[in-house]
Amino acid sequence: MNKEIKKIAVLTSGGDAPGMNAAIRAVVRTGIYYDIEVVGVYLGYDGLIDNEMKPLNVRSVANILSRGGTFLKSARSERFRTQEGRSQAFENMKNANIDALVVIGGDGSFTGADIFSQEHDLPVIGIPGTIDNDLAGSDYTIGFDTACNTAIEAIDKIRDTASSHERVFFIEVMGRDAGFIAINAAISGGAGAVIVPEHNWTIQSLIEKLQSGAANKKASNLVIVSEGNNLGNAYKIAKMVRKEIDYFDIRVTVLGHLQRGGSPSNLDRVLASRLGVAAVEALREGKSKVMVGIINKELILTPINEAIKLEKPLIDEEFRIAKILSI
Ligand code: F6P
Repeated sequence: MNKEIKKIAVLTSGGDAPGMNAAIRAVVRTGIYYDIEVVGVYLGYDGLIDNEMKPLNVRSVANILSRGGTFLKSARSERFRTQEGRSQAFENMKNANIDALVVIGGDGSFTGADIFSQEHDLPVIGIPGTIDNDLAGSDYTIGFDTACNTAIEAIDKIRDTASSHERVFFIEVMGRDAGFIAINAAISGGAGAVIVPEHNWTIQSLIEKLQSGAANKKASNLVIVSEGNNLGNAYKIAKMVRKEIDYFDIRVTVLGHLQRGGSPSNLDRVLASRLGVAAVEALREGKSKVMVGIINKELILTPINEAIKLEKPLIDEEFRIAKILSI
C-alpha cells in the first residue's frame, strides 16, 4: 500500500459519456472510504490549469448516479497540449498538495495523461469513459452500452416509418474512427448493411447489397453508417447511391449527439462503479500510468500508452452475425 496518497484529484475530459457521473461518485466515495481526500477538477484539464478545483464529499456526489453527462463538466483542452499548460497544471496540483490524478476519458484524454505523467512525478490512473469503445484494455468503455441503447431506440422508430413507405434509410451513428456502436446497432436494429471504418466498401458493392435486399422483398432497408468510414458521411453516401440508381426512395438520419446523453444503463452504472473503486485501490497499491478496465469480467490494469496505441479489433463474429442476418 502506498501511504503517500492522501489527496487525489479527479476530472472528466474529452467527449462526455453516460456513466461518467457514476465513475466520479465511485472515486469520491472510495477515496473517503479509505480516508483519502478527493478534489473535483472542473472542465477537464483546463480546470487543472485554471485552478478550478473543489473538495468533494460524500454528499457532493449524491443523486448523480443516474444522470447522464458529467457534473464536473468536460473539455478538449488545447492548452494541456502545450508543455506550458501542463507545467501550470502540475504547479497548481503541487500547491494544493494533491498526490495523484484520476482521469476519466477517452484516447485523447489518455494521450494527455500519458505525456503529463512522463513529464511530472505524479501517479496518474485512467478510467475509460467514451461512447466509442475504442480503448484496448477493457471489453467495454463507460457510456458505450447506453449509446448503443439510444441508437437502437432511434433505429426502431426509423424502422416503423421506413417500412410504412418502403424506404431505404442511411442512419449515421457516432464512433469517430471505430465501428463498435455501428456493428452493435446493426445487429440489434436488424440492418441491411453496416458501413464501418474497419471494413472498406465500394458504392457498387453497397448498391448490390441494397438490390439483393429489394430482390428478397425487404419492406425497408436500414444501412448503419459509422463516422470515419471509407465512403464518407451518410449524406454523401446517399447522394452517391442516388446518382447511380434512381428507384430507391432514400432518406438520411444522423443520430449525432443524442447518443452522448441520457441516463446510463445498468451495465454502464455497474462498470463505472467498479472501475471507480479500482482506480482508487490501484493508487493505494502504488500503481501509476495505468488504465483500469474489465476483460472477461476480470479487473485488468493496462499501461495507458498501450491502451491508446494497441489496436482493439472489431469482433469478427459480430460481423459474421450482422452479415448472415442482413439478407
Ligand atoms: O469521442 C466521442 C465522440 O462522440 C465521437 O463519437 C465523435 O466523433 C466526437 O466525440 C464528437 O465530438 P464533439 O462532441 O466534440 O463534436
